[in-house]
Amino acid sequence: MKARLLDGKALAGRIEDTLRDEVQTFAKMVGRPPRLVVVLVGEMAASASYVKSKAAAAARVGIDAEVVRAPVTADTEQLVGLVEALSRDEHGPADGILVQLPLPTHIDTQRVLDAVPAERDVDGFHPENAGLLSQGRPRFVPCTAAGVQRMLIDAGVETAGKHAVIIGRSDIVGKPLALLFAGRGKGGDATVTICHSRSEDLAGICRKADILVAAVGKPGLVTAGMVKPGAAVVDVGINRVADPSAASGSRLVGDVDFASVAEVAGWISPVPGGVGPLTVAMLLANTLLAAELRM
Ligand SMILES: NC(=O)c1ccc[n+]([C@@H]2O[C@H](COP(=O)([O-])OP(=O)(O)OC[C@H]3O[C@@H](n4cnc5c(N)ncnc54)[C@H](OP(=O)(O)O)[C@@H]3O)[C@@H](O)[C@H]2O)c1
Repeated sequence: MKARLLDGKALAGRIEDTLRDEVQTFAKMVGRPPRLVVVLVGEMAASASYVKSKAAAAARVGIDAEVVRAPVTADTEQLVGLVEALSRDEHGPADGILVQLPLPTHIDTQRVLDAVPAERDVDGFHPENAGLLSQGRPRFVPCTAAGVQRMLIDAGVETAGKHAVIIGRSDIVGKPLALLFAGRGKGGDATVTICHSRSEDLAGICRKADILVAAVGKPGLVTAGMVKPGAAVVDVGINRVADPSAASGSRLVGDVDFASVAEVAGWISPVPGGVGPLTVAMLLANTLLAAELRM
């Protein structure tokens, strides 16, 4: 492999070490640790596993995390009511409130997310936080986008003046990341192109990228022929594919064909162990920030 590895797991460990000290300082001053409440609806295995890893990471840095469960049969009104109750601290102080996505299809997800007060919105999905980010004065930045930018800054990948291509235009990854790259300062000042399912000549656009981010959810979408030699390739995708050689019968892969792209790219992030751990680390940082702003 020619590319240097963008090791998100190692960086997340270093971020946790710093956060642990800051959380301790906060707890000494305020008399309690920062507290994160996660709403988990239903029993979807992937969601339960993400929530478990978020709670475990919170525990490692001393953040108090509680998972509040709702049955899959809950309706929109009930979930909005639950989030409103959490916002009144009825389940204990809730500095940060996070609703684990996706919600069951019968739920109006936007209404539930909008019920999370902007100042406790540690996922950064509230329109107020999205607006602040778009105006260049970010408060809570969506965790995955923040994690990708942090990963590149940490690796010393220059973004200023470079062409960053993002495949994917979701509100939680593609759009906020485009705003970060296009913003002023460290990790920004890039020229940004956003691609999506209607983009023509995706491969041609990608080949012009100095920084290429795939946030789609399609295994093997990005192949070596789409990558400019020396480019930094960040793989946000998480896809479960069949693997008869694995004990579970499946394994996780990203959107990038890692083996072939690693021979062309200058940097590449793995899946797992790339963006995923950084997403969690950024959530912890946002929770501490929410607690600090509240005090
Ligand atoms: N590592 C992490 O921590 C983390 C966090 C969040 C998400 N993820 C993963 O990242 C991936 C994307 O998540 P998301 O929530 O942003 O997904 P999403 O809301 O489904 O958005 C996917 C985007 O990809 C675009 N797209 C689909 N097929 C395409 C194609 N053939 N060519 C070009 N663009 C295409 C879609 O275009 P349209 O808009 O035209 O439909 C859409 O903009 C998923 O695999 C998810 O599991 C990982």
